[in-house]
Amino acid sequence: MFELKPADFADKAQAYSALESQLSGLLHGERDFIANCSNTAALLWHSLPDLNWAGFYRLVDGELVLGPFMGKPACVRIQMGKGVCGTAAATGKTVLVPDVHQFPGHIACDAASRSEIVVPLIKDGRLLGVLDLDSPKLNRFDAHDQAGLEKLTAVLLANL
Ligand code: SME
Repeated sequence: MFELKPADFADKAQAYSALESQLSGLLHGERDFIANCSNTAALLWHSLPDLNWAGFYRLVDGELVLGPFMGKPACVRIQMGKGVCGTAAATGKTVLVPDVHQFPGHIACDAASRSEIVVPLIKDGRLLGVLDLDSPKLNRFDAHDQAGLEKLTAVLLANL
């Protein structure tokens, strides 16, 4: 049985480092894409405060298609370059959005979302999809979150 250890986000760097170890343990010995993305989404959802969505979109035939997630049902297909997810996918760079109402073309799957971060999943130069986190709080994500989440996606990619 996997035991979730509560993360103390008063020190974000330390909390993300503890999450990295937990994620490595959780994914160890498994390579299945759906299983590993599912467990990553569950770990993030239960560990990070102030989220209303945590999950993945996969690149399938040139568009992003909904993958494993925690939260309310979401938009199924997102075109490359559209919304925050499509922008991260098209540029290959993390997109941090402090206020989704200020992001032109933001796709609102849940009207409660106020800020968002999307990290592309790139393995051996190939885009596999994106990790997407939404929050009902304005300005929920900062550079520490970006750095921590990019390290967590590296752990996931090493197990795909
Ligand atoms: N807001 C995202 C769409 C996906 S949902 O947040 C789950 C976007 O603009 O790409």
